[in-house]
Amino acid sequence: MKHNICILGGTGFVGKHLACALSTEGHTVRILTRHRERHRDLRVLPRVEVINADVHDSQQLQHNFQQQDVVINLVGILNEHGDKGKGFYHVHVELAEKVLAASRASGIRRLLHMSALNADPGRGSSFYLRSKGEAENRMHAAKDMSVTSFRPSVIFGPEDSFINRFAELLKKTPWIFPLACGETRFAPVYVGDVAQAFVRSISNPATFGKRYNLCGPKEYTLKELVEYVARLLQLKRRIISLGRFASLLQANVLEYFPGKPFSRDNYRSLQTDSVCPEDNNVLREVFGIEPTAIEAEVPHYLLNQTSRTRYNLFRQLARRDPL
Ligand SMILES: NC(=O)c1ccc[n+]([C@@H]2O[C@H](COP(=O)([O-])OP(=O)(O)OC[C@H]3O[C@@H](n4cnc5c(N)ncnc54)[C@H](OP(=O)(O)O)[C@@H]3O)[C@@H](O)[C@H]2O)c1
Repeated sequence: MKHNICILGGTGFVGKHLACALSTEGHTVRILTRHRERHRDLRVLPRVEVINADVHDSQQLQHNFQQQDVVINLVGILNEHGDKGKGFYHVHVELAEKVLAASRASGIRRLLHMSALNADPGRGSSFYLRSKGEAENRMHAAKDMSVTSFRPSVIFGPEDSFINRFAELLKKTPWIFPLACGETRFAPVYVGDVAQAFVRSISNPATFGKRYNLCGPKEYTLKELVEYVARLLQLKRRIISLGRFASLLQANVLEYFPGKPFSRDNYRSLQTDSVCPEDNNVLREVFGIEPTAIEAEVPHYLLNQTSRTRYNLFRQLARRDPL
């Protein structure tokens, strides 16, 4: 069955892949954004509209939820102004409440919510993880709604801000690369698999009310991942994993750099391994998706990057010829 689906956060890394996947399946997609003019690439997709809206304004939210069957909330931030947790609370928890209220008022009963692995309102090691956990709990407390939450480890894929960020940093750093929290473990999950899990969950009642940890097929330390990126780019760098004190020092310094490349809250998130319990086979067993390995995808996008290539990717996904 085809649905009208409204996505918040649909212009981001995951959102773009999800919009492509939903459009390919024949759904009609409405993406709410603060900057419509920046997302020309999304507007080439069939049945996808991109609308300027302030998602924190309940009236605008309710207005844009009219005639929609499903709402997907992907909005998330990794950094806030200051370090008190208020910004995280506003964007994660308060927005979740507004999404619930506007959905109710618009007669929408199906919600898909993006959380994060280790999100926990009490035990999360950072403001990011605690606010993500609180938002997830508030969504699932709404017993009149069919909510499904997704809790991925770090997500990789074309235009990610993980592998690509380290690639850029490695290129700029000669010889020795000091890496904070290098022993933290990850199970990177492919953005295409995450998007497919969302798509397959929409009309599957077995997934209503469920929360799914999403992990890729293999675990790596952060240091192993950065070494892999350096090898792919043929950069001879010595990756030095910093201890606790030096990592925290780095966070305290970089927190004040433009764009906050690394913050104290990021440091706190990295105190917990981002890996699934050993028996986690959600992608395969619940969604019938064979998890994609980093080695199968990263070389394609890391070694083949121009904005024209990316634009053509969206055109191809939209079944239009490359320019
Ligand atoms: N990427 C990962 O590795 C990863 C891992 C685990 C969980 N997640 C979660 O997955 C979700 C999507 O991640 P992503 O990597 O796609 O993020 P992203 O590329 O940074 O995109 C974030 C989206 O959220 C919107 N947004 C950001 N700040 C906002 C604010 N203050 N108010 C309203 N909207 C705001 C942006 O919309 P506009 O700028 O267009 O308005 C953008 O579309 C997030 O909730 C994130 O926490 C991501």
